[in-house]
Amino acid sequence: MNRREMLKLAAITLGGVYGFSKYPVLAQNTLPQPQNLAVKRIGKTVEAQITARVSNLTIRGNPVLLMTYGGFPGPTLRVREGELVRLNFTNNLPEVTNLHLHGLHVSPEVDAPLAEVQPGGSRLYEFTVPSGSAGTYWYHPHIHGKVSQQLFAGLAGLLIVEGPADAVDELRQAEEHTLVFKDWLISEGQIPPWSHMDWMNGREGDWVTVNGAVSPTLRPQKATLRLRLLNASNAQYYRLALENHPLYLIATDGGFVEKPIELPEVLLAPGERAEVLVRFTRAGNFRLQALPYDRGTMGMPGGMGMMGSRSMGAMAHSPMNHGGMGQSGMPGMLGRMMAQGATPLKTLLTIAVPPGLKPSPLPAFLTPVERLNPNLAVTTRRIVFGERMMQAEFFFNNRMFDVNRVDIRARLGTLEVWELVNKTDMDHPFHLHTYPFQVVSRNGRTVPYRAWKDTVNLRKNEVVRIAILFRSFAGTTVYHCHIVEHEDRGMMGILQVEG
Ligand code: C2O
Ligand code: CU
Ligand code: CU
Repeated sequence: MNRREMLKLAAITLGGVYGFSKYPVLAQNTLPQPQNLAVKRIGKTVEAQITARVSNLTIRGNPVLLMTYGGFPGPTLRVREGELVRLNFTNNLPEVTNLHLHGLHVSPEVDAPLAEVQPGGSRLYEFTVPSGSAGTYWYHPHIHGKVSQQLFAGLAGLLIVEGPADAVDELRQAEEHTLVFKDWLISEGQIPPWSHMDWMNGREGDWVTVNGAVSPTLRPQKATLRLRLLNASNAQYYRLALENHPLYLIATDGGFVEKPIELPEVLLAPGERAEVLVRFTRAGNFRLQALPYDRGTMGMPGGMGMMGSRSMGAMAHSPMNHGGMGQSGMPGMLGRMMAQGATPLKTLLTIAVPPGLKPSPLPAFLTPVERLNPNLAVTTRRIVFGERMMQAEFFFNNRMFDVNRVDIRARLGTLEVWELVNKTDMDHPFHLHTYPFQVVSRNGRTVPYRAWKDTVNLRKNEVVRIAILFRSFAGTTVYHCHIVEHEDRGMMGILQVEG
């Protein structure tokens, strides 16, 4: 193999497919940037089309059959606060799907998690981009029972809202990039069927891409970068750290924090977004790494964690072939259990900083963040996370998802506190549609800064209190674990907000 072929192999881009689609051909191993979705703008109205389809992409030189919105990641929909968006979605897949606008505060009648778009069908998503919502969101399918397969197959794209808060000088001086993290498991040109372990832990692939490329290099032209980060994985967590540099958190799921927060690392659970500034004061190659993270999947380092504490006996006696859950038998399971545990350190991206650049100063202030006062809550509810691991069944308050059952009824215009209690042995990222929330406390301790979230991770035994204001829209919406296997296997509930 010559050097050229080696480089080619090292690039291993899903982006390779862009070469023969409408995407530009990218220099080998250079971080691809997702294409912006073509939109038609007339005054304050934006029209756009998103289509889900079966896609043949090339990965590591091999063709693979995926489902995408036209390449991976799908095209980025960029809209502005106050615009009226008329987004037409067409399903060209051979199976039912729909489109969810993750994190956007729009009516649940529009962003309807229970709506279905049949093969060949279309649905119009018409909504106004809320003011004050500037931030990084995303879109993906939301058919209960099918989210795992469809998301893992590549159905995900970014949705970026721009607004007045972006006008801060220091932000405008920064070079902006979006980074979509996603892992893959591919065998013989296909995504293999889900094993029982996949349903239990949430499926993780054996390699990770950033914007569809394996370990690409970003070559900035400025010394201050604004990175919009999205975890589009089914179950993999990314504990992100940049070699020799802190990360300055400027935004969470629902937009800006008040001022940059210096952090040594940022944990991104599935579904979560964050925006960070990074500043380079010297030239060099700096790696953006995923540090080891143990989210409590079965099989701790050392191998016996689960067996000591949990139902090893039950496991030995329980039939492993539950309807539709795959075929892995005991030996395979044990093998994988020993292999699991903390994810190893990975280099996701290298940032090659050229000499002669000077970073711009950090913004002193970004935007005011309204405080949801938990003392004004009309109700405090408790949501206990549960699991029956051997069956790969997951619960909120002992119940699995039922489309015909309303789990929580709330009143439009009221504020509630939800106490989330993770009584399982695994992390679960809790996600609420429609209504952004604020984390009030974690294990009784007040969180150090105010931020809008739609997804919050709970480690095992953690208790997290969130404050939610049910504003603007009445309707039926959902909350669920964003390890989408858990969502598909019951960890979802229905919230009805009445006007
Ligand atoms: Cu991205 Cu219902 O979720
Ligand atoms: Cu969502
Ligand atoms: Cu979960």
